[in-house]
Order: sequence, then structure tokens, then C-alpha cells
Amino acid sequence: MNSYDFCVPTDIRFGKDKIECLSTEIGKYGKKVLLVYGGGSIKKTGLYDKVYEVLDGFEIVELPGIEPNPKLSSVKEGAGLCKEHNIDVVLAVGGGSTIDASKHIAAAAFYDGDPWDLVLDRSLVKKALPIFTVLTICATGSEMNPGAVISNEETKEKLEINHPLLYPTLSVCDPTYLYTLPPKQTAAGCADIVSHIFEQYFQPNDGAFLTDRFSEAALKTCFKYGLVAMKEPDNYEARSNLMWTSSIALNHLLTFGKGGAWSVHPIEHELSAFYDITHGVGLAILTPAWMRYVLNSETEKRFATYAREVWGVNSGNDRDAALEGIERTEKFFKELGLPGTLTEIGIDDSDFTLMAREAVRTSGLSSRAYVKLNEKDVENIYRACL
Ligand code: NZQ
Ligand code: ZN
Repeated sequence: MNSYDFCVPTDIRFGKDKIECLSTEIGKYGKKVLLVYGGGSIKKTGLYDKVYEVLDGFEIVELPGIEPNPKLSSVKEGAGLCKEHNIDVVLAVGGGSTIDASKHIAAAAFYDGDPWDLVLDRSLVKKALPIFTVLTICATGSEMNPGAVISNEETKEKLEINHPLLYPTLSVCDPTYLYTLPPKQTAAGCADIVSHIFEQYFQPNDGAFLTDRFSEAALKTCFKYGLVAMKEPDNYEARSNLMWTSSIALNHLLTFGKGGAWSVHPIEHELSAFYDITHGVGLAILTPAWMRYVLNSETEKRFATYAREVWGVNSGNDRDAALEGIERTEKFFKELGLPGTLTEIGIDDSDFTLMAREAVRTSGLSSRAYVKLNEKDVENIYRACL
């Protein structure tokens, strides 16, 4: 196992009605709250009213309208509100987009220049407001990690800002909030969780035995309950298992003792930067193509382990087992109702060269990935998805 530092300071309040704790917990930091939310789903579901009920007596300033693939312009607006109103706490109610924008806002509130500077140079992050979250879609793990992915509309870049000060202070994870998710979001969220686990499972170091067994259990949970949640949106057992899996899939537990760069996410981030597609949809399309592309005599053993441990594949031949595992993975995404090709979502090859260049430039794909990929490799993977 590689040496590893593990410190996850986020207080998780998991279960039905846990939102009631917010008054006491936010109250420890002050009374002025910036409430950040998305396009209005929380108004339809009644969560917006609930937040006001729980935070009775607090001074609430609102930043609505955070879009999926959150934009730098929202961050600028939020940071301006924090400064203008002397905000004490940023409260994100929503999914990864809302939480990510809130994290960036919490840091930008203490920075006088362009908030994009903080993305390009994290050493400029010196301080951040406390971040509280109420999670309404399980996917990104943003509720329990220090990362935020922000899109710069002008430069067409989608990059991560990652800093220990950006761990949420507290996250409310109530599985009943997931009941109202549209099927597409349940499916895309599930694909995102699965991809996070893959990114950590398929890494150069094979010596972190316990970590890999955790990953296999997390994958089995997604494969079992993802389909249940699609058929029965208000199945508490399914929603609660998926919700906790989303958090542990990206709170570094599954990277413990491993290390290396991620493979599919940087390739997907270019797709959502250029075409504003749903992150989990892009991952579901790219993942089987990436798996087939990197399958070789060196990697087949690990792919076979995945197939045997997670899918119960019996084949004694590693290559056959590996291929069956990849097929099962692809079938699972299909059963979730996710598209299988870029063509289905209206993307052609016009930007492949540029996107491939950016994916390699902005990540560790060519230097530290499970199988190192150059620009041509990434372009080939995009092409395999047409
Ligand atoms: O905006 P509203 O109206 O709230 O609707 C949202 C949005 O349209 C809707 N939704 C959320 N909860 C709902 C609901 N609709 C009905 N009922 C509910 N309970 O779902 C849509 C998607 O929301 P979004 O926040 O965009 O989803 P997600 O959590 O998948 O976040 C995606 C973003 O996170 C980034 C992605 O790149 C993307 O920008 N990521 C963040 C990571 C992180 N911070 O660690 C890691 C990930 O790999 C990922 O890159
Ligand atoms: Zn992701």
C-alpha cells in the first residue's frame, strides 16, 4: 500500500428528517446564511419551505438558479452577495452543481480578484466560509469531499478546485429527498458513483487489498440498488444505500493506499465543457469504450478480478472474464436507460481533437493514469463512442 493521509472532517447527518439539526448547527457560526440552490426543484418538492421553517430567525440571502455544470458567473454573483451581506455560512441545497458552486463561493468570498484564479492556483485559497449542504441527488460525493468542478463559460474550460478548506462542515443526507428525482438523474447519478469507484479501483497500485474489496462492495451496491431505484423511486432501502455509497465513493476511502490519476473523468469533463451534457451520461458512454481501449495483457488480470468479484463471472481465462465484465457494465448502463453513444446525444467528431488535447493538458492522463493515454488515444476513445 502507498502511504496515505486520511482526514475527512465533514459531519454527516444521515436519515429521515435530519434537516432539523440545521438551526442548531448553523447557529454555531452565525445568523446570516447564503442559501444556494438550482433551477427550482426544491420549490416543487417543498424542501425550500422546509429550509425556511428550520431556519426561522436567520437572515437568509438567496442565490437561486445554479445550473448543472455550474458556471463561473454564478460563483462571482455568490461571492459578491457574501461580501455585500457579511454572510456567515453558505448553505447549498441541491446536488453536486449547487454544492460545487457553493464551495467556490465560500472561498471566493475572501478573495478580491477573479474567482477563476483560485481554480488555476489553489494556493490562493487562504480562507473559506463554512459550507453546509442538504443533498438532493446522490452522485458526485461533493457532500463529503473538498472538490468543486466549475465551468468557465468564456474559455470553455471545466476544471476542479480542490482544497481542504472546501470540505463541507456538515451535510444532511436524507434519502427521502431522492424520491422526486427524474429517472434520468437517478440513472446519471448512479453512473457517476460507479465511475468514481472505477477511477480508484483501476489504478497502478495493486497492493491495497482492503481498499479494493471496499470498492467491489460499493460497486455491487450500485448495480443492485440502481435498478431498484429506477423501478421504485420511493424505495428507502435502495435510495439510502445509494446515497451512502455516493459519499464513500468519493471521500478518499476508496483511494486509501492507492494513488494515480483518474482516466475517464478528464475525458468526460471536456464533453460537458463543450456540449453542456449531463456528467453521468457522458461517463456512461465513455466508460465501456475506455475499458476496451485499455484492456491488454497487463491489465486483463485486474479487469478479470473485477468481473469475478463484482459480477460473479466464472470464466477461468482472464481475457474472457475481463470482456464479460465490460459487457455486463455496458448492459447495466443500458438497463438504467442511459444512451450508449455520443451520436445518440447529438455529438459528432468536430471537436474531438481539441477536446482530447485539453483532456490530456489539464489532467494526469499521460503521466499517472492506470494506462497512460496521449492525445491520439483520447481521440480514439471519443471515436469509439460515435
Ligand atoms: O436545478 P434543480 O432544479 O434543483 O434540478 C436538478 C438538476 O436539474 C435536479 N435535481 C436535483 N435533485 C433533485 C432534482 N430534481 C428533482 N428532485 C430532486 N431531489 O437534477 C439535476 C442535476 O443536478 P446536479 O446538481 O447538476 O447533479 P449532480 O449532483 O450530478 O452534479 C453534477 C456536477 O457535479 C460535478 C459534475 O461535473 C457536474 O458539474 N462533479 C463534482 C464532483 C465533486 N465535487 O466532487 C465530482 C464529480 O465527478 C463531478 O465532476
Ligand atoms: Zn463524477
